[in-house]
Amino acid sequence: SSLPDDLFTAIKELKQELNAVILAHYYQNSDIQDIADYIGDSLGLSQQAARTPADVIVFAGVHFMAETAKILNPDKLVLLPDLDAGCSLADSCHPEDFARFKAQYPDNIVISYINCSAEIKAMSDIICTSSNAVKIVNQIPAHQPIIFAPDRNLGRYVSQQTGRDLVLWQGSCIVHETFSERKIIELKVAHPEAKIIAHPECEASVLRHADYIGSTTALLNYSLKSSEKTFIVATEPGIIHQMQKSAPEKVFIPAPALNNCACNECPYMRLNTLEKLYLCMRDKTPEITISEDLRVKALLPIQRMLEMS
Ligand code: 13P
Ligand code: SF4
Repeated sequence: SSLPDDLFTAIKELKQELNAVILAHYYQNSDIQDIADYIGDSLGLSQQAARTPADVIVFAGVHFMAETAKILNPDKLVLLPDLDAGCSLADSCHPEDFARFKAQYPDNIVISYINCSAEIKAMSDIICTSSNAVKIVNQIPAHQPIIFAPDRNLGRYVSQQTGRDLVLWQGSCIVHETFSERKIIELKVAHPEAKIIAHPECEASVLRHADYIGSTTALLNYSLKSSEKTFIVATEPGIIHQMQKSAPEKVFIPAPALNNCACNECPYMRLNTLEKLYLCMRDKTPEITISEDLRVKALLPIQRMLEMS
């Protein structure tokens, strides 16, 4: 099927026609970020999804994010440009394995990172994101044991920040585990004035060099407020588009992977393109669907997160 020459205009027209909102994560390609109504981190995007008056939510992000939007909005059409846009963290945690894991710790409550499937959410007590994980764990009474899933790196970081023992599911993100400590040290030697800013999904060997650790939104805000000029950015480099747009005079250096491959880009996030964004709105597919039974179970821990954030 032929595509219009001006995709930006065509997408804007479809947006009007459908009464749609386009929500985009910072790891999306720059052109998708530029056409989005709202760009944010996982928490910001779910807060937007919870309050949007639009009839259609076009989710430029990965499957678990669009699924969360659908759980919050069962009556809205939720579109994802490419249904294969998954997440290695979500994939690392299968419901049957997780049920067995959970059964070993019957006294523990389950706090799950939003990067997981609806099935895992339904087995969880509270959902969190990288921007509210510390805040949420700090609200749990000290005597209450906790399972934290599925990201072991975020889990270890939260454990350090809160002084709490967490039982960790051993998942990790294929993007954030690829950053090389050695390369970051080399960059720091070449740019001694640079601040190293890192996402908590990074390995401990990288986080120990960080001047600041936070979610994508937190990293963006820190880089804008900081009086420093140069930043080494240890997260998916899609975020640099917003950093550079908001602070054109500053220098943002993407942290490289060990062999300088493009594997610091999230292969799932990057499956979405402007063409696919247009097509999903034109054809009203692929659509996110979920059984009502599962939706209701997954909704409760998401609502708890929104209340505790
Ligand atoms: P945040 O945008 O919440 O920081 O999460 C990063 C990420 O990896 C999303 O998949
Ligand atoms: Fe999942 Fe990592 Fe991609 Fe985020 S960057 S969507 S955690 S694979």
